Amino acid sequence: MRTQVAIIGGGPSGLLLAQLLHLRGVDAVVLERQTKAHVLGRIRAGVLEQGLVSLLAEAGCADRMRAEGFVHDGTLLSDGNDMFRIDFVALTGKPVMVYGQTEVTRDLYNARAESGAPTVFCAENVTIHDADTETPHVTYDADGQTRRIDCDFIAGCDGFHGVSRKTIPADKRQEFEKVYPFGWLGVLSETPPVNDELIYVNAPRGFALCSMRNENLSRYYVQCDASDDVKRWSDDTFWDELRLRLPPDQAAALVTGPSIEKSVVPLRSFVTEPMRWGRLFLCGDAAHIVPPTGAKGLNTAASDVYYLYHALVDFYESGSVGGIDGYSAKALARVWKAERFSWWFSSLLHRYPDQSGFDQKLQAAELSLLRSSEAAQRAMAENYVGLPY
Ligand code: FAD
Ligand code: DHB
Repeated sequence: MRTQVAIIGGGPSGLLLAQLLHLRGVDAVVLERQTKAHVLGRIRAGVLEQGLVSLLAEAGCADRMRAEGFVHDGTLLSDGNDMFRIDFVALTGKPVMVYGQTEVTRDLYNARAESGAPTVFCAENVTIHDADTETPHVTYDADGQTRRIDCDFIAGCDGFHGVSRKTIPADKRQEFEKVYPFGWLGVLSETPPVNDELIYVNAPRGFALCSMRNENLSRYYVQCDASDDVKRWSDDTFWDELRLRLPPDQAAALVTGPSIEKSVVPLRSFVTEPMRWGRLFLCGDAAHIVPPTGAKGLNTAASDVYYLYHALVDFYESGSVGGIDGYSAKALARVWKAERFSWWFSSLLHRYPDQSGFDQKLQAAELSLLRSSEAAQRAMAENYVGLPY
């Protein structure tokens, strides 16, 4: 088989890139290792920046988001006692959209199915060949056969554990990593959210986040040990711990119920440079990971897609290689700002095992500065709603 762009990974990055390219007449094949049900079963991000919202509209995949998503004009921060609000719209003119990654992915899969463009599920042993030549190709196993796709370009959208990044020779890339000494325990429950807006908490017992998917679907997180076993956390243990971290009025208002999903995620910052090797381009989690605090993972994947999509369309429509040659530097400039924000917001809100009294006083002073200073709030809000592409 021959295509213009072989896209490895059918997560949000790969699907969004495929749909945008399709609408501009560029052919792509999406190769996904898992089943569609498996991809749609993952509960991940929930907050979308306006840049991603606009890209979904350009991809023709914004109708359900506009109908069912929730526009949030601000967020709440708490020290575990009381709360203060950061008003995104007053400070930046921009809100954010609360709409789950699962739903974004579902909408993109539906659009792809309607377009009739090819997606291969359960593609095993995906292997990239000759990416540093003008004639790259990809092989994979499906239905007991090895198949080959010849292409002009390869988009590595296969997440942190994919093959794309590892295909780049070790001496041609540099990796930067920070692992945090804690994780997040997340619970999804069919209960009304405790508040109309998200609440980020730095309590004496650790970080907590109250988020949501809709009026009757709540997403809550508490800071836990990085190696914590989810089996150690019964629903009751989770709700009790969450209540202990929330301000008393929110704890009293919390409606609890059975969890429908519960998982532990480690927190990590990671970037690989460059994001291009020959005709292979890395996109999204394949190139970088942020700790989830501030919801930058999916949104940063979206800005990579934006740059790569325009680079490829420029190439096919006008023969220009400027976008392709500039992709890595352009994407990385924005990636590092998202890395900085996610690191800062994580550092502000979590309790560290080795935190000294001095460290804790500084953290409290920083939260207090954010409460009282409009300039500090504006810097936070600009990053949270998303820096320009
Ligand atoms: P992925 O979503 O990882 O998609 C990559 C796809 O490639 C997957 O479908 C995978 O099956 C496929 N694949 C992998 N290897 C291969 C292969 N060899 N061949 C073919 N296909 C392959 N971000 C937030 O903003 N907020 C959150 O709350 C949040 N929670 C998260 C929780 C978890 C457990 C994880 C892992 C991430 C979370 N993130 C969160 C980050 C966010 O979900 C990611 O940034 C986003 O999914 C990136 O999209 P992607 O398409 O680049 O990668
Ligand atoms: C969610 C996750 C985040 O990391 C965040 O900062 C906000 C919301 C969520 O899953 O809803």
